[in-house]
Amino acid sequence: MIDFSNTLIEWYKENARSLPWRFTKNPYKIWISEIILQQTQVKQGLQYYLSFIKTFPDISSLANAAEDKVLKAWQGLGYYSRARNLHFSAKMILSTYQGEFPKSYKDIIKLKGVGLYTAAAIASFAFDLPYPVVDGNVYRFLSRLKGIKTPIDTSEGKKQFYELAHQLLSLTDPAGHNQAMMEIGSLICKPKLPRCSECPFNTMCIAYQTNTIYDFPVKENKVKQRKRYFNYFLIQEKDGLYITKRTGNDIWKNLYELPLIESNQSVSAKCLKEELIPQKLNFESASIKLLHKTKHILSHQILETKFFLLIDSLENVKSHSDYIYIKQSDLQEYAFPQLLLNFFAAIGISKG
Ligand code: ADE
Repeated sequence: MIDFSNTLIEWYKENARSLPWRFTKNPYKIWISEIILQQTQVKQGLQYYLSFIKTFPDISSLANAAEDKVLKAWQGLGYYSRARNLHFSAKMILSTYQGEFPKSYKDIIKLKGVGLYTAAAIASFAFDLPYPVVDGNVYRFLSRLKGIKTPIDTSEGKKQFYELAHQLLSLTDPAGHNQAMMEIGSLICKPKLPRCSECPFNTMCIAYQTNTIYDFPVKENKVKQRKRYFNYFLIQEKDGLYITKRTGNDIWKNLYELPLIESNQSVSAKCLKEELIPQKLNFESASIKLLHKTKHILSHQILETKFFLLIDSLENVKSHSDYIYIKQSDLQEYAFPQLLLNFFAAIGISKG
């Protein structure tokens, strides 16, 4: 029987990618990297990590920044609650822990936006504490290795995989072990075309030995995607346009967008002009023209989106206290969701 953790860590030493968060024990930098990597691939996350750390090199620079600036640094990454939570938690660390990053697992997991996985990652990478990380890579690797068919998106599955990862964890080098688990899942035990012939565990891998690698991991529920219908309005004046800030507990909270009417089905320009625009925006005689149509897919939502050019009296436009007039050349000062950036690019307005 091979020593699992030693074999894993040896493999890692030979094969690991050289990534900046792997050469630091600074818990702030590790925290930022892990929050970025929660829902983002390493390739894209790396650029964001480098520029985020450059803009906000430590806890106090993040805590003291305006939220708009934090969201701007996150623009294009998606799941913007991650940025709002980072900002919130940085302020909390400054006020509650005098700016010193908490050192115990129990305090780390209390930070907003930090769940089991991220707490284990920070605790082990920064403080060498023996908590196992179980992310998507680890679920895939362990489910194949042991042939575990318990769905990973059930509480039973989560518990089972956590316990297994805990049993396997090296107590002498939990940081190296955890990095190695994720790395082997990412580089070898890939979702498609895994590189089983190069895997040091192929002789003991149940899925490989039984030719069932694509049967793992098992998931119970495929995510249901809700359809939504967004109708945006480009209202221009001189060399500028009107934008608004999203509020409320919904996607893209506190990011900027164009004036919007959300409808419960796809609506025609006529219906918007005659019914919805007068009702919801108070523009009585707006003329509109469809500029662009697109489908924007998020993890749980599909946004069927139409963009219209809207012309109305400036008096009506100005009666909206939530509309902000900005120069086109200042668009890049504001954080917009990717959907809006794509639209600006499609019609040739500066991308930001
Ligand atoms: N995904 C999540 N955390 C990671 C890390 N530290 N290195 C590489 N990929 C990761």
